[in-house]
Amino acid sequence: MVKIAPSILAADLMDMKNEIKLVDANGADYIHIDVMDGHYVNNIAFGPNMVKSMRPHTKKILDVHLMISPVKKFVDEFIAAGADIISFHPDADKNSRNILNQIKSANCKAGIAIHPKVSINEIVSFLDLIDIVIVMTVVPGFGGQKFMQSEVNKIIELSKIRKKRNLSYEIEIDGGINSETGKICKDANADVLVAGSYIFSSGKENYKKMIDSLR
Ligand code: DX5
Ligand code: ZN
Repeated sequence: MVKIAPSILAADLMDMKNEIKLVDANGADYIHIDVMDGHYVNNIAFGPNMVKSMRPHTKKILDVHLMISPVKKFVDEFIAAGADIISFHPDADKNSRNILNQIKSANCKAGIAIHPKVSINEIVSFLDLIDIVIVMTVVPGFGGQKFMQSEVNKIIELSKIRKKRNLSYEIEIDGGINSETGKICKDANADVLVAGSYIFSSGKENYKKMIDSLR
């Protein structure tokens, strides 16, 4: 069954502890934390302190999505804060293999995220090293954008490569996910769906219904 990763970018920031507990209790598999630096993307959001503050309040997988450049010098802080998965954009720093090894050697899962402008060819050499790949179906930076149908081919291609090369990375889809676009991704063999506004804008009493509707 597909895993669901609510993105706290769309959560009620003044009620974060409760938001985390609610999505935890209502079936979230991962909790997706977007980190933005105002440089790699045109927005600013969250840092290692957010991961550290959340850590005592849930046992769910903390899925950290770094949209920052450079990457390497910040990785250790996110590991120390309690991240379970750290993903980054390989076009945001020089030595991606080195960064993947840095993450994995700390017993953390490592992922790469694919900006819509980046092709599968540009990341194919990392696939043997990673635990997860994030296919971005919006231009990273903001929640609430429209799903880019043009990126679905990347999900299909990553699924084919995984089978052909006998690899085991998870395929996570991030951006514009609702029950309809989520179905498109599941049909393309996605393993994890990130959803921000679809879940958190639905009203706290509806989180279970929204999470269930993505399965
Ligand atoms: C966008 C972020 C997403 C965002 C998704 O740059 O990486 O994780 O929170 O938000 P929705 O689900 O609203 O498109
Ligand atoms: Zn994200």
